[in-house]
Amino acid sequence: MLDKIEQLKKEIEAMVAQSADEVEQLRIKYLSKKGEVSKLFAEFRNVPAEQKREVGQAINTLRDFAQERLDVLRSGVQEQKDSSVGVDLTLPGESMKLGTRHPLSIVRNEILDIFKRLGFVVSEGPEIEDDWHVFSALNFPEEHPARDMQDTFFIQRNPDVLLRTHTSSVQVHDMEEMEPPIRTVTPGRVFRNEAISARAHCMFHQIEGLYIDENVSFADLKQTLLYFAQELFGEGTKIRMRPSYFPFTEPSAEMDVSCSICGGEGCNVCKYTGWLEILGCGMVDPNALESSGIDSRKYTGFAFGMGIERIAMLKYGINDLRLYFENDVRFLNQFKSAH
Ligand code: PHE
Repeated sequence: MLDKIEQLKKEIEAMVAQSADEVEQLRIKYLSKKGEVSKLFAEFRNVPAEQKREVGQAINTLRDFAQERLDVLRSGVQEQKDSSVGVDLTLPGESMKLGTRHPLSIVRNEILDIFKRLGFVVSEGPEIEDDWHVFSALNFPEEHPARDMQDTFFIQRNPDVLLRTHTSSVQVHDMEEMEPPIRTVTPGRVFRNEAISARAHCMFHQIEGLYIDENVSFADLKQTLLYFAQELFGEGTKIRMRPSYFPFTEPSAEMDVSCSICGGEGCNVCKYTGWLEILGCGMVDPNALESSGIDSRKYTGFAFGMGIERIAMLKYGINDLRLYFENDVRFLNQFKSAH
């Protein structure tokens, strides 16, 4: 019996087929109810008990082997068939489905484009930073409570290695490396240790701007930001500044734009005030200029910074920050843009 199995195995190994019909013939010969392998199962009854185990296993293996060989032959003839079908070059092509840009990328590009038109260049820097570039060079004294305004992630318990809490750190690099006039916009991810909710996240995106030259004034800052607000939210947009505090600017302000949704009439987005807060800004503190090697008697400058998530929320009426990072295509597909 084992000899017979061995014989059949050789036959099956040598099988060839040119067409699906021939494959079917072979299947009938070996694996159909009356096929060779099935006959073995029938004869199995007469095998002496002490050989049953070995013979049984050999028959099962043979059946699997035959099945495998037939599958290989079948896909072989199928392939031949596919490649012999003529290609109709007049058929329209299958259109490729393109993804859409993420709303944060759309808004980031739009903001950067506005400042590029004013002569700003884009500069980027590292997300993992040292204390100097995120705090000390920006006039945050050690142990000063202003450091608590931004709850920081430290790396490896080393207080000098941290995730940047704002992209002002890139402005320090720029001031260290460039000679005035400096005009940069710095987009990037920033990190703060905050509980994730609809209104806060531990990771978000900022764009900050810096302009340093001789005789830069607060009037320049206001005009630049007015132009920016009207380009982004529409011609009739108004701005207003409220006094604020940042260690690296003096004076400092927060800027509101007239609500683009109700046009200043009052609605639930602007909480019936007619105004939306969109950024922080101010004149660069002379201490911050000096820390980065810029002569504060010769040069002055302004800086501003904004969160991209917030501006995209206002532009698109998005009401939950978490939507940006879930990557649900039903959300993402809604944003189409030239950018
Ligand atoms: N760096 C500030 C922040 O992250 C924003 C800012 C930038 C304010 C520049 C003033 C000037 O909150």
